[in-house]
Amino acid sequence: MKVNGTHTRTIWLESDGWSVGIIDQTMLPHRYATLRLTTLAEAAHAIKSMQVRGAPLIGAAAAYGMCLALRADASDEHIEKAYAVLHATRPTAINLKWALDEMAAAVRNQPRGARVATAYRRAAEIADEDVAICQAMGRHGLKLIDAIAARKSGQPVNVLTHCNAGWLATVDYGTATAPIYAAHDSGIPIHVWVDETRPRNQGASLTAWELGHHGVKHTVIADNTGGHLMQHGMVDLAIVGTDRVTAQGDVCNKIGTYLKALAAKDNGVPFYVALPSPTIDFTVTDGIAEIPIEQRGGEEQSTMTGRTADGRIETVQVVPDGSPVANYAFDVTPARLVTGLITERGVLKASREGLRAAFPERAGEN
Ligand code: MRU
Repeated sequence: MKVNGTHTRTIWLESDGWSVGIIDQTMLPHRYATLRLTTLAEAAHAIKSMQVRGAPLIGAAAAYGMCLALRADASDEHIEKAYAVLHATRPTAINLKWALDEMAAAVRNQPRGARVATAYRRAAEIADEDVAICQAMGRHGLKLIDAIAARKSGQPVNVLTHCNAGWLATVDYGTATAPIYAAHDSGIPIHVWVDETRPRNQGASLTAWELGHHGVKHTVIADNTGGHLMQHGMVDLAIVGTDRVTAQGDVCNKIGTYLKALAAKDNGVPFYVALPSPTIDFTVTDGIAEIPIEQRGGEEQSTMTGRTADGRIETVQVVPDGSPVANYAFDVTPARLVTGLITERGVLKASREGLRAAFPERAGEN
């Protein structure tokens, strides 16, 4: 993706060849700032504090965090410690565990002197693979958008999305946004309804920012608006991302996704989920019962942060003093509400059979 005309990824190796560059996403949309990570602790902090976020990017950041850890100490004990520290940062996105397992498998049987180079090589592959996967999802999802466009005689295709499953949530292109960018780039008129996605506003702050930079028409809406738009025929399809898909096709994603899926079902709006295969967790079946749902600090719910008219970034309280708040970060949409899963291997049925047929080499993991 381009930022101010320059092709940019969300994570990269700095010119010193070892430290890791990231975009500090907590500063967007008001400031574009980058950070340099040099230690395991800094990488873990970046994930936990959501300077980097989004399931695939969390995985890539953890992979590079493991490189930084090994650089300091390549012993077996330190690999275990780094795994535990990084794994504890966020509980729901399975890409984190997937990436850590990949890294541990890559270095475990290497002689100590070769581990750092091997780790950097595997982390770079993980990042490159994510880009290729997102591009493939874009190609498959484009066909869905193209089919709708063919029925709309030049009117824009209206896509609703939730949270940020975009370029900023991956290494490049995004998951839910990959088909949107592919459609836009191929000249299909497209417009995106962007759920603001309280409490952290990843839609309003991040998705709107990146769609704007790419020139994609969009409108930010309050989280509760989607149902109304669907009732009035103003949404042609919904595409969201996910942090974990179970063996039977249940989808865990940012809180509020389930309500959008219910509204879509009631209104006959196709509801698609875009996911790279590292987001599939074949070890769990019933998403509602088995996926750990991250609960975050109450201050995210009780406050809002934004830019004042004179350019200062301020945080203000929006609930009465003393009112208890709850902050569940994710929910689970049962497979029966999902029209299809957009993956790098095509658009699948959200079912055990669909997932097993497309990813037979992974199905044995349960
Ligand atoms: O809490 P976040 O911002 O990490 O949540 C991100 C999401 O819920 C995304 O939809 C999901 O990670 C898919 S990202 C391609």
